[in-house]
Amino acid sequence: MAKLAAAPKPRSGAEIILGIESSCDDTAAAVLIDGVVRSNVVAGQEVHRQWGGVVPELASRAHQQNLVPVVHEALRRAGIGPREITAVAFTQGPGLIGALLVGACFARSMAQALGVPLIAVDHLQAHVLAHFIPGQGAIPELPFINLTVSGGHTRIVHVRSPLDMEVIGTTLDDAAGEAFDKGAKLLGLAYPGGPLIDQWARRGDPQRFRLPLPQVDGLNMSFSGVKTAFRDLVRHTMEKDPAPSEQTRADLAATLQRTIIEVLVEKLIAAVDRVGCDRIGVSGGVSVNSGLRDRLQGEGRARHWTVHFPHPEYCTDNAAMIAMAGRSLLHAGIVASLDVVPHARPPK
Ligand code: KG4
Ligand code: ZN
Repeated sequence: MAKLAAAPKPRSGAEIILGIESSCDDTAAAVLIDGVVRSNVVAGQEVHRQWGGVVPELASRAHQQNLVPVVHEALRRAGIGPREITAVAFTQGPGLIGALLVGACFARSMAQALGVPLIAVDHLQAHVLAHFIPGQGAIPELPFINLTVSGGHTRIVHVRSPLDMEVIGTTLDDAAGEAFDKGAKLLGLAYPGGPLIDQWARRGDPQRFRLPLPQVDGLNMSFSGVKTAFRDLVRHTMEKDPAPSEQTRADLAATLQRTIIEVLVEKLIAAVDRVGCDRIGVSGGVSVNSGLRDRLQGEGRARHWTVHFPHPEYCTDNAAMIAMAGRSLLHAGIVASLDVVPHARPPK
């Protein structure tokens, strides 16, 4: 976690937003004071590891256990008490409905008890607005194209302003993060596999094996074919060599990573051509991937793009981005009613 400044007492009349995130398997709370992150606490859920993927019912239960201590810790680190909060922002969706309900119910109760505005945040919009969390150096200049790559979603977005975003490309099936996680499972790696594929791929030869690239028109993408082709490749390799060496496993990981990156980069190049905008943002959990970062930095230099990534702490699921998005909505006067409900799917 990034080092936070020692918590000074907020000025009287400060804007203090509590952000809450519970869309998947991370329970997170953050405090944003006058636009500055004062605490950002994330509790992961170990319980899913033994199942090799997120089990929705277990996620809901873990959120119920974790949420109060996580919020308490976020307030403690920010040096504030609950009565000083001036707005509560929470993830309304998309995500696992049971998990979202835990965060939504908590946020609604807290806003009602404190008599402060409640702000319902779209998780994918928040992944984009993670770029604007202060303290990360240069931020993308508007308008820009954002590649949002997470475990549940993969999309290309034309960002005209913090609240004006157009989805111009999306995956038609699996998300890029799912392809990483499912591929890792095939290699016998733990969940979530994305970070482990990243580590293994660094030692591997990405050219030793080949996977076909999906053929999808326009800016949309597909990863289910990549996943199936990788499963066949792993099976075929294991048939010939039932106990593959570390090098072979690293080469397989590098091949999977290179193919996923290839799909993302090809579509990003097409998006830049279509929109005519050379300012790029990349966010969401998969944007931590070192291969993707290196490749896009290289493309950026070659094509004269400016490429921005949030700090890794703000790429994977976190509540600072929820509070940040909440701030934009609050300033635009967009607040939720106390009977607001979460939604599992992105709004149409
Ligand atoms: O944004 P995120 O934390 O949660 C969702 O909104 O889904 O993204 C989680 C995804 C997982 O699939 C995880 O494996 C992937 O991000 N991920 C990575 C890396 N770090 C996290 N994938 C590839 N390389 C990484 N270094
Ligand atoms: Zn996410």
